[in-house]
Amino acid sequence: MPASILSSDLTGPVLVTGGGGFIGSNLLLTLAARHPELTFVNLDALTYAVVPATVDELARSIPNYVFERADIVDEAAVRAVVERHRPQLVLHLAAESHVDRSILEPRRFLETNVMGTFNLLTACRDLWAGDPGVRFHHVSTDEVYGSLGDEGYFTETTPYSPRSPYSASKASSDHLVRAFHETYALPVTITNCSNNYGPRQHPEKLLPLMIHNAMARKPLPVYGDGLNVRDWLYVTDHVEAIWQVALRGRVGETYNVGGDAERTNLDVLKALLDAVSERTGDDREELERLVAFVKDRPGHDRRYAIDATKLKTELGWRPTRSLEDGLRETVDWYVSNPGWVASARENGYDAWVQKQYVTEGRS
Ligand code: NAD
Ligand code: DAU
Repeated sequence: MPASILSSDLTGPVLVTGGGGFIGSNLLLTLAARHPELTFVNLDALTYAVVPATVDELARSIPNYVFERADIVDEAAVRAVVERHRPQLVLHLAAESHVDRSILEPRRFLETNVMGTFNLLTACRDLWAGDPGVRFHHVSTDEVYGSLGDEGYFTETTPYSPRSPYSASKASSDHLVRAFHETYALPVTITNCSNNYGPRQHPEKLLPLMIHNAMARKPLPVYGDGLNVRDWLYVTDHVEAIWQVALRGRVGETYNVGGDAERTNLDVLKALLDAVSERTGDDREELERLVAFVKDRPGHDRRYAIDATKLKTELGWRPTRSLEDGLRETVDWYVSNPGWVASARENGYDAWVQKQYVTEGRS
């Protein structure tokens, strides 16, 4: 088994799962443009999480692109796509990804994140049958490690301690990926990444929700005391990490990915409002008055912080933007793409926010 596949050795199709979502779409747009010689196949069920304008953009702007609508929970459908395209590399991103939804509706998280990953692993194991020139890369989260106090960082050897149905389902999928490596010698790599932000993110997540609501002069709901800490990474920096690890990472290894940008939710929100005000000319004080403290998320993890030394020293990866620059770019993208914003709104995110307000007793 080779230690790595170099991109020049990569000739077969790249199968991306969840390519219609936030990270998947940014990944496809970045990598397919850089590698016109490769075919990129997007296997996606197009769940609620996919904004229709993103699907249109992918089909319109990527020539070397094939779309396969399939649910990874459907074993036969997954097997059919894998056998039809015979990928050399799989980048597995498809998942239910929103912690709040996992608290209210956990079943689908187990089905997609655990059984869906299992279906993909078995299909790849059977197709590849010991071929060393292939790779299965699993995209996972730092949330598998649980919650930190004021000190310390997650490393690759931090014991797993997931605390939400979402993170428990992602932890299970990580274990399955490792088990397939140990048991069937499937050539796998895993990345565990911190919070991403950037273009095309579903407005159920903190930063796009705040951008949408600030622009619509709606309340900016901050859970609890707003002092929970996240480490923020611009989405294309994550894409680069995925690509580097998938092609050059050591088989069977996990790599943590983080932005060296720890902030409390209140601090990241303030930086975001600075960027909104700067870009739109909106009164900064007026935006701040929209902040509304609401009921906390049950089991809300207090702090995530990533030590990405392994990725930096082995593969030379680095985050390329400061948080402030990344937020400016992000705000600029949403303001410059009203068609995408309208598509997201028509896709029903307001209904979800409304539902949460009722369910969680927010005002
Ligand atoms: P997203 O919710 O924006 O997109 C998820 C994608 O998966 C969508 O295209 C959706 O249609 C697809 N999908 C969901 N269920 C499916 C199913 N049963 N069959 C086929 N496709 C299905 O999520 P995202 O934020 O882009 O996250 C992508 C991956 O990265 C996930 O695995 C997530 O756990 C991981 N991750 C996300 C972050 C983050 O900050 N967003 C950080 C670390 C890791
Ligand atoms: O750490 C990586 C994870 O980051 C990914 O694995 C997940 O897929 C991704 O959704 C994200 O999870 P979080 O729960 O950290 O992201 P979210 O945007 O939902 O929330 C970020 C923080 O903001 C969290 O502390 C909860 C808080 N929050 C969130 C929302 C939606 C609010 O205060 N108000 C809100 O309305």
